[in-house]
Amino acid sequence: MKKPILVTAALPYANGSIHIGHLVEYIMTDVYVRGLNMCGEEAYYICADDTHGTPIEVNAQKAGVKPEDFVARFAKEHVADFESFEIAFDHFDSTNSEENKKWAFEIYERLKAGGHLTEKPLEMFYDEQEKRFLPDRFVKGTCPFCKTTDQYGDVCESCKRTYQPTDLVDPYSVVSGTKPVIRSSTHLFVDLSRFASFLEPWVRADGRMPTEIRAFVDTWLKDGLREWCISRDAPYFGFEIPDRPGKYFYVWLDAPVGYISATENWAKKIGDLDRVNLYWRRDGARIEHVIGKDIVYFHTLFWPAMLKAAELTLPSRVHVHGMLQVNGEKMSKSRGTFVNAKTFRDHLDPSYLRYYYASKIGPRPDDIDLALGDFVNKVNAELVNNLANLVSRSASFIKTRLGGRYGKLPAGVETEAERTFVAEKTKEAEAAYRNFDLQTAVRCAVEIGDRGNKIFQDAMPWKTAESDPAGTLATVTLCLNLARAATAIIAPVVPSIALRIYGILGLDGAPKLISEATLWDLQEREIGEPERIIDRITLKQVEAIIEASKPAESGDRTEKAPEKAKKAPAEKPAPKKESKVEAPPNEGIISIDEFSKVALKVGLVKNAELVEGADKLLKLTVDLGEAAPRTIFAGIRAAYAPEEVIGKRVAVVANLAPRKMRFGLSEGMVLAAGPGGADIQLLTVSDAAKPGSPIK
Ligand code: MSP
Ligand code: ZN
Repeated sequence: MKKPILVTAALPYANGSIHIGHLVEYIMTDVYVRGLNMCGEEAYYICADDTHGTPIEVNAQKAGVKPEDFVARFAKEHVADFESFEIAFDHFDSTNSEENKKWAFEIYERLKAGGHLTEKPLEMFYDEQEKRFLPDRFVKGTCPFCKTTDQYGDVCESCKRTYQPTDLVDPYSVVSGTKPVIRSSTHLFVDLSRFASFLEPWVRADGRMPTEIRAFVDTWLKDGLREWCISRDAPYFGFEIPDRPGKYFYVWLDAPVGYISATENWAKKIGDLDRVNLYWRRDGARIEHVIGKDIVYFHTLFWPAMLKAAELTLPSRVHVHGMLQVNGEKMSKSRGTFVNAKTFRDHLDPSYLRYYYASKIGPRPDDIDLALGDFVNKVNAELVNNLANLVSRSASFIKTRLGGRYGKLPAGVETEAERTFVAEKTKEAEAAYRNFDLQTAVRCAVEIGDRGNKIFQDAMPWKTAESDPAGTLATVTLCLNLARAATAIIAPVVPSIALRIYGILGLDGAPKLISEATLWDLQEREIGEPERIIDRITLKQVEAIIEASKPAESGDRTEKAPEKAKKAPAEKPAPKKESKVEAPPNEGIISIDEFSKVALKVGLVKNAELVEGADKLLKLTVDLGEAAPRTIFAGIRAAYAPEEVIGKRVAVVANLAPRKMRFGLSEGMVLAAGPGGADIQLLTVSDAAKPGSPIK
């Protein structure tokens, strides 16, 4: 029997806001789960906030609130952020719950009973002023190798070498700034090497994790597994260890247990409590974890070992994704590329980010680059100008010109060819969703959209609507069935857009199955009401997000103030250069005679169409009052949909030497204002101007 699939994303720390880096994971997992369900699987999406550990405890103290209240504040914010990005968890929980404590205790008892625990003293740095032991990241000092100052206790950011905190020269506590002392304390360890013979085949099983990841997990296994310290001294925010008063579970012990306790609370919520045992004790589900590259060790070694010791269901799959980069670089607060979810949605519809991420994420754990110019162009070209445009122009054509009802699909080979194409693409998209190959799924939808737009464009329905209404209606009906196919395929990526499109098409509710792509049932029935689908974005809007994400100039940010203050001057963005350059005398100045050599004329755009293989161009047919209209290729596709340009009177350079392009001959140039990309406006002339009139 087919098992349900329980999918988890890593639990975000309740210690900061959700940012666009996190969103890679929560969006891709959401698309994956929606995709699975639309492929007919029974899949659930479970997550929780990760609430324990020293950083949370220290930050709560700094903020002057109890850790419980501190994490509750972030929980609220996280839930709102996820909701606004249409991340539809079946359940979102917290690791600071009684259920989580219960499961953590159970696993601990099983580790103990299995003889997997050892206990021994450990020497660590201790902050005498704050009366606390200091984790590696809470001690800084001078790198023992390259002597760079202000390095963390585990790794030097300058020479990249790793060491023990006690190796640092001139160590100081990040919490108090004082010099720490070395103290001994007894700790509990899981002897991971005892699990080696279980872990080796488990890690290597087919489909367990991406092959690149398996390769480096393999090297850890070969190098030998170390003991893992699972206890921490008070003060700590976490669960006190039952038989070790004053000691707490290390956050990474109870964090993954949150996957189980969240399942339990979800099971309670839906009134089917047995599910937690069915899924986690009786192998009644496929468990799949989605995580980033940075937490592979925990999920592929510690966690399966814990589950094994407690005889709980092991994950079937650990899917690993790469890290987000912005414009090819790490996210950076000073560059304004460390963008919070809230800042993004205050400026732009979250659908854009969902679309872009999905279009960039494949099955491999490669880093994902949010290149801002590409983001604007890709979203405009594919989501707005392709998909949304196909729907709105075809639907409004039927509504306004052809009586508001679909016709029959064209008989014969034309429709057959489209059916075959859509059937192939639907199959490909289904396989892609199952394999986290979101970009292939997106591409399948875009290719179908391209076909629809091309059919519409080639048929020129605005020319044939009167002479051949039935034939025209059949063609536009075909276009809309293609639009619906693309929509059913892309629905997991942009669910709210898919819902709106279905409404426009006259369909009830949202797409439920990807296979709706192959129904072809938009025939001889009413079309829906037109509605705005989604607007183009401009680079300006994106720049506003970056601007809003830059740190305030005044330096009054309290968080990590002392360290930041030192670095601030170097990190300040360079002052913007003025782009205005004064021309040296005479150079660049032209005489009136030279100017009058340019024949500027009014051109009426009779037709506009997409150019296959050129995602920046539109092919325009322009009437310049001459015997035949001219063909002009214009780089305006990111800013204009073809039908928006048709009927416009534009300024044309009429005596430009014709230019042979890969797609044909361009016989002139249309003028436009603006920096380019989506941010460009055609220079238009009022309707009173006759095609061919000179502009002087
Ligand atoms: N709390 C731990 C996970 C515990 S799971 C039992 C944690 N939290 S986190 O908030 O730092 O990260 C949560 C997830 O978001 C991780 O899988 C992490 O890889 C992912 N990302 C955080 N920043 C990211 C980027 N900049 N880019 C891509 N993913 C990122 O780790
Ligand atoms: Zn160094």
